Amino acid sequence: MIVLAAGEGTRMRSATPKVLHEVGGRAMLDHVLAAARRSGADRLAVVVGPGMDKVGAAAARGGDAAVFVQQDRLGTAHAVLQARAAIEAGADDVVVLFGDTPLVTPETLRRVRDELAAGSDIVVCGFRTPAPTGYGRLLTDGARLVAIREERDASPAEREVTLCNAGIMGFRGAGVLSVLDAIGNANAKGEYYLTDAVEIAVARGLTARAVEGDEREFLGVNDRAQLAACEAHFQAGRRRAVMQEGATLIAPETVFFAADTSIGRDVVIEPHVVFGPGVTVESGARIRAYSHLEGARVAGGAIVGPFARLRPGADIGPDAHIGNFVEIKNSVVEAGAKANHLAYIGDARIGAKANIGAGTITCNYDGFGKYHTDIGRGAFVGSNSSLVAPIRIGEGAYVGSGSVVTADVPDDSLAVARGRQVVKSGWAQAFRARMKALKAR
Ligand code: UD1
Ligand code: MG
Repeated sequence: MIVLAAGEGTRMRSATPKVLHEVGGRAMLDHVLAAARRSGADRLAVVVGPGMDKVGAAAARGGDAAVFVQQDRLGTAHAVLQARAAIEAGADDVVVLFGDTPLVTPETLRRVRDELAAGSDIVVCGFRTPAPTGYGRLLTDGARLVAIREERDASPAEREVTLCNAGIMGFRGAGVLSVLDAIGNANAKGEYYLTDAVEIAVARGLTARAVEGDEREFLGVNDRAQLAACEAHFQAGRRRAVMQEGATLIAPETVFFAADTSIGRDVVIEPHVVFGPGVTVESGARIRAYSHLEGARVAGGAIVGPFARLRPGADIGPDAHIGNFVEIKNSVVEAGAKANHLAYIGDARIGAKANIGAGTITCNYDGFGKYHTDIGRGAFVGSNSSLVAPIRIGEGAYVGSGSVVTADVPDDSLAVARGRQVVKSGWAQAFRARMKALKAR
């Protein structure tokens, strides 16, 4: 499969190449490559523009895509031919995708490949829209596709056609190069149009057909508004899928998923929750309102939020509770442990059933290194304590409220590290009297 990603995307007005903009926390290019892989493609090629090293590097990251550079932007057919070496290597079929059309599904790509396997020489994805302006039109004769006409080259009658080219085209492997090499550039844009392959093939007695899909699957991104439209459609699809798989979303339209979010059965997600990349929520957990999670795992029976923040490496064990205004980073919270209010837990292990009081902070960073805090099973850390890492709080140990703990606390002992309380009886009365007298002078 060949992904065209040479478009620089000037209308994005961005320092980031267009296809690296993200939908659901994943680059558009990665969405397309993932769909290609899942449709069973065994060879991937990505065509990038000159100087688009970041795109090339992103494409190469999976280790299975060859990267080709299109030096001059001479059209989609010209772009495909930059991957000539990949095409010459031989394949049953060659499917061309656009890097800026991220929502295409593996099922659609499989349909294209199945049609090719069933005997068509060219298969084109189409969709119907009442607003076809800007798209190439699919000109059909019964079930057969006879040509694709670009908007600028279309006659008034052809412009009335509402069946549009989605941009995804599949070719039978044998003979594809001969058709592509025959494409010229005598058209309104002076470009080598990949779409001209249909007319050339049909003139040679080959067969072409269209497979129709939902317009939204083929949304292309050229500007930020279209990026947002794609995101909205992506989110709508993920919400539906998550509910179909057995999770409850109380207000689905307020929950945002990443492409790789994994949500188990009987998970309840309250309103206004955001999932960044890399989150797994296992069956039976509850994510309460206004929480933000990324790079985290939440085990069954755990309750996270409201207003919780789980950062990368947060691993919340079964039946653990992470409450309001608690931030967890790179820490394991073992079964049944609780940090219910106003805490920062970073680079730590919290043993099973330990209780972390309100306002507890792991002081894990000194401006140079990060240090580990280990809190034993069943330990009780009193409110408003600072645990200066590296440090170990033993199993079953207590830390008195308001402590700044700088030395390890042995198992089952109490550490109090704060000023001892002094009580001066009658002091307040005397103070007030003195101040009043001063003022009266
Ligand atoms: C293309 C189709 C049109 C279809 C529409 C769907 C052609 C000639 N036209 O038009 O029928 O309805 O997509 O969105 O194919 N690219 C390169 N190198 C080039 C030119 C383009 O890599 O020299 C890449 C672009 O980055 C983009 C894709 O090919 O990913 C499509 O190019 P674009 O210029 O957007 O074509 P459209 O005019 O949208
Ligand atoms: Mg386009």
